[in-house]
Amino acid sequence: MNCKAVIFDLDGVICFTDKYHYQAWKALADRLGIYFDEVINNRLRGVSRMASLEIILERAEKSYTEEEKLAFAEEKNNTYRNLLKNMSPADLTDEVRETLEELRRRGYLLAIGSSSKNTRFILGQIGLATFFDAIADGTDITRSKPDPEVFQIAAQKLWMDPALCAVVEDAKAGIQAAKAAGMTALALHGDAENCGLEDCNLASFSSLLDIL
Ligand code: BG6
Ligand code: MG
Repeated sequence: MNCKAVIFDLDGVICFTDKYHYQAWKALADRLGIYFDEVINNRLRGVSRMASLEIILERAEKSYTEEEKLAFAEEKNNTYRNLLKNMSPADLTDEVRETLEELRRRGYLLAIGSSSKNTRFILGQIGLATFFDAIADGTDITRSKPDPEVFQIAAQKLWMDPALCAVVEDAKAGIQAAKAAGMTALALHGDAENCGLEDCNLASFSSLLDIL
């Protein structure tokens, strides 16, 4: 594989904040009396906060105003950030940390490409605030995955040809975004795995070291 840079999704790839997203959305959905489960949650992977809310509201029995929707998104984000406050460097697995360090030793440029506006907060919590060569996140983009924008921005920040970038993703929307950006798409867990668009399924995070 001709690859000089690796762009990682954050939630569900670098750390397991995907479970906190689920808990926070579940609390909101329960309060509103809207059915929500892990299967629906899979559709929220890689999708922006407001687009995620729209998916949850598909099952609502009434419609809500834009103002109400903004308040719901804020409520979810407050619950989510309270959960994130408990995160620490112990939430970064040895496998992820050692794999990242080995990739750096091998000379790869390493970046984050995440739809989340909480990216920098999370990276700070898990001790990776200054680790990556570039960060493209929800504060940089106008269109969330499956649009390629976040990965294009990550490649620009690295001064790297997209064709030389590999993306690691747990979301089908992220795999679509990577392919639309002309990058190699590596699926890890989630609905990315076996979605039919990936170039390769990773058995584990550390198997990156065998594939690259
Ligand atoms: C993505 C998650 O990384 O970020 C989505 O997979 C989430 O589930 C999106 O909706 C936006 O996150 P945030 O932290 O800005 O609400
Ligand atoms: Mg993800």
